[in-house]
Amino acid sequence: MVNTSVQLSSLHLDNPVIPASGTFGFGYEFAELYDINILGSISLKGTTREPRFGNPTPRIAECTAGLINSVGLQNPGIDQVIEHEIPKLSECYSKPVIANISGFAIDEYVECCAKADKVDKIGMIELNISCPNVHNGGMSFGTSCQSAYDVTKAVREVTKKPLFVKLTPNAPNIAEIAAACEKAGADGISLINTLLGMRIDLRTRKPVIANVKGGFSGPAVFPVALRMVYEVYEAVDIPIMGMGGVSSAADVIEMMLAGASAVQVGAANLKDPYACKNIIEELPKEMEKLGIENLSDIIGGAH
Ligand code: FUM
Repeated sequence: MVNTSVQLSSLHLDNPVIPASGTFGFGYEFAELYDINILGSISLKGTTREPRFGNPTPRIAECTAGLINSVGLQNPGIDQVIEHEIPKLSECYSKPVIANISGFAIDEYVECCAKADKVDKIGMIELNISCPNVHNGGMSFGTSCQSAYDVTKAVREVTKKPLFVKLTPNAPNIAEIAAACEKAGADGISLINTLLGMRIDLRTRKPVIANVKGGFSGPAVFPVALRMVYEVYEAVDIPIMGMGGVSSAADVIEMMLAGASAVQVGAANLKDPYACKNIIEELPKEMEKLGIENLSDIIGGAH
């Protein structure tokens, strides 16, 4: 029997497979399809202080081996998430979850994280400084070392929960940003969020996405994500949650060899709601094939 469990900061996970924020709602929506307790954890939909309707439609553009989204952080706001969404999820999911906190100003991030800190069900905060689909805040915090440091430091002061910072690949040097977050007190790094992209409709000769640009994700970005996880692993001494185009158990193993302690699955959930379940079921077979007994032994093994 192979051992798929991993340690992610203070969380012990049965397996490293976690649905990525924004691709799995608040989790309970999938409970009618299968027993979601098989998931390592769940990263909840990006949550802001105020409720948000999100961006105008169209918000999605299909691409070869991926898609572009410009959802714009649609969510009911932190208070609703704590009062309604998390209790609903708790009815069908027994493990700690990851709150993905987004914002437009440092005080907003701080307020949301302070509220999340008081919720037992939240086992980890994923500070999202990488959303490419809002005009201020979001990704802009993740493209300079100073702003990434400032927001991480401010949030660190209001929570003792494990704090992972989710980084954007649209930064000049993601490894430097990761190091700045570590210096500010982050317990870990999540990467990568989506790559900024666009499509043009040949018939109308106009951008497909109403907001013009959006975040590109899916299997096409996997080699880019892998390279960035590899680089960040060499730049920091804190654990990494790797993501970006992961769609198979083999991808999970490759991501862990690059340096990830756990792996999030994003766009694959939009194509197939059973993607995480399939990957979790495949993982032991793939490990046996590759002669891996303990999954945690391979973390960073490619270095
Ligand atoms: O548009 C969105 O809601 C995307 C969020 C993100 O990429 O973090």
